[in-house]
Amino acid sequence: MSSYEARFEVWRGDVRGGGLEDFAVEVNDGEVVLDIIHRLQATQAPDLAVRWNCKAGKCGSCSAEINGRPRLLCMTRMSVFERDETITVTPLRAFPVIRDLVTDVGFNYAKARQVPSFVPPEGVGPGEYRMMQEDVDRSQEFRKCIECFLCQDTCHVVRDHEENKQAFAGPRFLMRVAELDMHPLDAAEEAGLDRGRTAQDDHGLGYCNITKCCTEVCPEGIRITDNALIPLKERAVDRKYDPLVWLGDKIRRRS
Ligand code: SF4
Ligand code: SF4
Ligand code: FES
Repeated sequence: MSSYEARFEVWRGDVRGGGLEDFAVEVNDGEVVLDIIHRLQATQAPDLAVRWNCKAGKCGSCSAEINGRPRLLCMTRMSVFERDETITVTPLRAFPVIRDLVTDVGFNYAKARQVPSFVPPEGVGPGEYRMMQEDVDRSQEFRKCIECFLCQDTCHVVRDHEENKQAFAGPRFLMRVAELDMHPLDAAEEAGLDRGRTAQDDHGLGYCNITKCCTEVCPEGIRITDNALIPLKERAVDRKYDPLVWLGDKIRRRS
């Protein structure tokens, strides 16, 4: 087994401010960045705050930025970096810092609560639901989400624009709206809920200019932009310009 010493710059601080701190730390074959952060805790910085749980890319809690790119600490191999490279580890930029590498991701939970849940179809009981395999596959792709919020962190709409946060749910939750809007059994429309319209009016779909940055950082490989955001935009626009929908809206508004 070979080992070497790597140079790390790790952000230390809290809500009052902070900065990068230099470390030289041992790296062994097969290690990931989270191993190095744990070694720092064990040998040089026992009070370094970092959030993690599974170390297997499944809990979504070790999200941070490595050399400025949103990534999971536990899924980033040290072998992707040059041995003489200085590796920078900083907290997620789009969310407020609590301490060191730990941020307050409560924004995401607040947005999750704003998406109305699945509306069961009338007269069809659990166990009687039938769907085409392609509809199942689509939902399953979206449900691979581990809620790491790397897509939320990277999206330029909120990354440097705190003022957009109120109006914009972010890619993870627009994907949730898309999943429900395309769900063949969701009875939201019958219940008077237009998910396409809420995507525009309540969740800020119009802010998204399909840059695909969210897709690029998703550790689950979910094609957020192509399979959720673009179809959601198409469906919202189709509905807006559908003459029957327009007429129905007009009648509803009058009555
Ligand atoms: S595609 Fe849309 S949601 Fe995704 S990063 Fe770009 S602007 Fe944000
Ligand atoms: S969609 Fe991907 S990047 Fe976004 S929260 Fe889910 S797993 Fe993370
Ligand atoms: S520790 Fe669970 S995803 Fe990294």
